[in-house]
Amino acid sequence: MQPYLPNPNRYQDMQYRRCGRSGLKLPAVSLGLWHNFGHVDVLENSRRILHLAFDSGITHFDLANNYGPPPGSAEENFGRILQKDFKAYRDQLVISSKAGYHMWEGPYGEWGSKKYLVASLGQSLKRMGLEYVDIFYHHRPDPDTPLEETMAALSLIVSQGKALYVGISNYRKERAEEAIRILRDMGTPCLIHQPNYSMFDRWVEGGLLDLLDSEGVGCIPFSPLQQGLLTDRYLRGIPEDSRVAKPHGFLKKGQLTDSRLEQVRQLNQMALGRGQSLAQMALSWILRDGRITSVLVGASRPEQLADSLKCLDNLDFSSAELQQIESILG
Ligand SMILES: NC(=O)c1ccc[n+]([C@@H]2O[C@H](COP(=O)([O-])OP(=O)(O)OC[C@H]3O[C@@H](n4cnc5c(N)ncnc54)[C@H](OP(=O)(O)O)[C@@H]3O)[C@@H](O)[C@H]2O)c1
Repeated sequence: MQPYLPNPNRYQDMQYRRCGRSGLKLPAVSLGLWHNFGHVDVLENSRRILHLAFDSGITHFDLANNYGPPPGSAEENFGRILQKDFKAYRDQLVISSKAGYHMWEGPYGEWGSKKYLVASLGQSLKRMGLEYVDIFYHHRPDPDTPLEETMAALSLIVSQGKALYVGISNYRKERAEEAIRILRDMGTPCLIHQPNYSMFDRWVEGGLLDLLDSEGVGCIPFSPLQQGLLTDRYLRGIPEDSRVAKPHGFLKKGQLTDSRLEQVRQLNQMALGRGQSLAQMALSWILRDGRITSVLVGASRPEQLADSLKCLDNLDFSSAELQQIESILG
């Protein structure tokens, strides 16, 4: 392996946005390690993606206990690459992890008890070889555990120094509002919410974005490319190396309906007219909203990330363009 020397000009072109009313700034584009960083993937490719990200000013890397497959292997691989290439740059990185989904057998391996969250973060820190994560999330709401217990666990983790900030993910508006209030009362403000949001899935526009804005909580939408659907990836069939074609991929063939693909075709044409790829336009469309802190993208190779990053060159949409998007989305 060649030693890695980061680009000395890496902070020149990236935009950094303040995360809610906190002191922390995040890059407008962040990188997620849900797919493409597990033991099923090629480590050298994962490493090249991380190099390109850091060289481009991406300082924020998003993980979770269960990312892989197998679960835990994305954190293990990230830890290996971190120790090798990024050790000297730890203070330039914002690393997040989460717990909420199934991770180990028995009654303490998922959801939102203090028992699970504290144990899971301990495991994540070990896998990544870290003393602390920058952001720790509750990954999904738990209908059975009292919200007070889950939020107290997040607050405890911060007071123990195992995370600097905490966030919530996949919480609908009402539950998010309650969680934000409880955390504030505990003296551990909620830094950020991580919901899914893309042109094809706009539920956050129904009140969550306004709530986060008024509460001073940041917002980092995940799967902004709808796992690759909002790109030119599937316009000529299903490529062999695509997420749909992989047995462990979460994007399924059934989601590639004729009507969806027709929308993708029209959006792709429109993007080309703006001088963008469809991936770039889908990201610019989200980032044009000042309530958004960062878009959390995935990539299966460095070239895709390089393409996506160019979204920052054109975040403006005319009202005619916005209307055209609305009429395509129907
Ligand atoms: N909190 C949660 O519950 C939750 C859930 C899901 C995700 N997340 C977070 O969000 C991150 C991103 O999710 P995601 O990977 O689904 O995001 P995404 O950006 O919507 O999709 C990424 C996929 O799109 C394709 N792609 C990316 N850039 C492209 C480009 N420029 N041109 C053509 N195709 C491109 C690639 O597909 P191919 O692999 O087919 O090449 C890539 O794997 C995750 O890693 C994770 O950190 C969080």
